[in-house]
Amino acid sequence: MKIGSVDLASPFAVAPMAGMTDTAFRRLVKRKGGCGLVVTEMVSSEGLVRGIDRTLEYAEYTPEERPISIQIFGGDPAKMAEAARIVEGMGADIVDVNMGCPVPKIAKHNAGCSLMREPEHAASVINAMASAVKIPVTVKMRAGWNDEERNAPALAKMVQDAGAAAVAVHGRTAAQSYSGLADWDLVARIADELTVPVFGSGDCIEPEQIIARMSAGVEGVLVGRGVLRNPWILAQAADLAAGRPARVVTPEHRGCFLLEYIELLLHERIDESRAVSHDRWIVNKLRALGSWYTKGLDNGSHLRTAINSAESLARLREIIVEFFCLDAAAVLS
Ligand SMILES: Cc1cc2nc3c(=O)[nH]c(=O)nc-3n(C[C@H](O)[C@H](O)[C@H](O)COP(=O)(O)O)c2cc1C
Repeated sequence: MKIGSVDLASPFAVAPMAGMTDTAFRRLVKRKGGCGLVVTEMVSSEGLVRGIDRTLEYAEYTPEERPISIQIFGGDPAKMAEAARIVEGMGADIVDVNMGCPVPKIAKHNAGCSLMREPEHAASVINAMASAVKIPVTVKMRAGWNDEERNAPALAKMVQDAGAAAVAVHGRTAAQSYSGLADWDLVARIADELTVPVFGSGDCIEPEQIIARMSAGVEGVLVGRGVLRNPWILAQAADLAAGRPARVVTPEHRGCFLLEYIELLLHERIDESRAVSHDRWIVNKLRALGSWYTKGLDNGSHLRTAINSAESLARLREIIVEFFCLDAAAVLS
């Protein structure tokens, strides 16, 4: 499939997740296969325009992640256009606009999901961006602001007309946050009505669910929490789509994934002065991933507690080796 002129080898993608989908994590998921697109964590348009280091870090990526979409948030058309130019200058393949974030800190600044409450303004943001850059501009939205304002179908059309090259819809309202279930009927309806590709998002935690959602008529599926629980889920969905049984993920695979994540993080953000030490930052990153990665695992709550109590990288590695019964001599040498 294609988004504008960008070819995706697979219709399955890693959804943007603040705090989670950093470059190290995206690389590891990409290496498992089946992943057609990765999206960065959301990046502030204001921070990009002002050249704030921390913001620029969120937008960092490596060539092996391509095609890469950088997601930005903001509500000012001129600033969003300028931020899109910066993203294009960074070599990204796609610039995505966050119209789904319900967090008040973002939404109150006329950004994130609050853009859905002002459809004309939202369309003017997309129009300004699409006029400013050659790379495709895409939009990620929710079903609407709340049950009374489920306007994703109308807004999706408006942003398409304003120049969006694809639209992704998480089928919950901002008011729902993550409660209830994503409304995939609504997503399918939007996919039916738009001429640009539509991605659906929400509640795929098994590869079979991804395949089932595809058959409802969307061009692609963005998987968020399912990838944090099981980074092989896109590869498994690709297996199923190709008529093969989904590959088996062993405890050894799962343990090695966490160790590889630590290894990659050791090379990230090293030359920066931060409030916490680099090791501590990695421990915190593993705790964040651990809260998702341990869900559904036998004795997962034990692993989660152990990861949360580890105070050093050495201890973290030991916990992983023990839990997944890895050969310590082989993996820690
Ligand atoms: C921890 C977390 C962070 C998220 N951050 C973002 C974000 O930065 N931008 C965005 O558009 N969506 C964000 N989302 C929403 C996801 O991209 C996705 O649409 C949503 O989680 C539903 O899909 P899922 O059920 O597959 O997780 C986030 C979700 C989670 C769980």
